[in-house]
Amino acid sequence: MVHAESSTFAAGITKAQAYAQVLEQAAALMDGQRNWVFNLSNVASLLYHAYHSLSAPSNAVNWCGFYVLDHSVSARDQLILGPFQGHVACQTIKFGRGVCGTAAATKTTQLVPDVEQFPGHIACDGASKSEIVVPILKDEHCVAIIDVDCAEVEGFDEEDKKYLEEVAKLLAGGCDF
Ligand code: SME
Repeated sequence: MVHAESSTFAAGITKAQAYAQVLEQAAALMDGQRNWVFNLSNVASLLYHAYHSLSAPSNAVNWCGFYVLDHSVSARDQLILGPFQGHVACQTIKFGRGVCGTAAATKTTQLVPDVEQFPGHIACDGASKSEIVVPILKDEHCVAIIDVDCAEVEGFDEEDKKYLEEVAKLLAGGCDF
């Protein structure tokens, strides 16, 4: 049963506890539900509320969501905007472009402490200062990416990388893309 309290996070919890709740609630919400639209939508909400329950810099997350593979193009080398929380964002990103396209093309997490230092960074929201992008891989193909932006530099660390990669694995196994 979907309940709004799933995305309520207690004040004062650690980052590890927040991500543990995200993973637990995501798995529960996805039980028997393989549609990527509502699974990614609910995970975007869980992550956004998790970050905002934490202290700085995590609580300065200003965008959190997904880009998914564009199945309408034959070359399959383009991401399109998926479910997210935050301000409106660019609709399409070619593989290899920006932080998202780099993560999709290289199939590796991009941890960017300062977006100004990332060649080709796509500035959807001028408030974003740091970013992490994690590819969601299925059968060794990138089917989507998780993108989280922070309004402070160095908003993300190795702990975020570790847990977001777990979220990516959960989504890869639990959704039909
Ligand atoms: N900054 C991203 C674009 C997506 S927005 O941050 C939502 C990039 O460089 O790929």
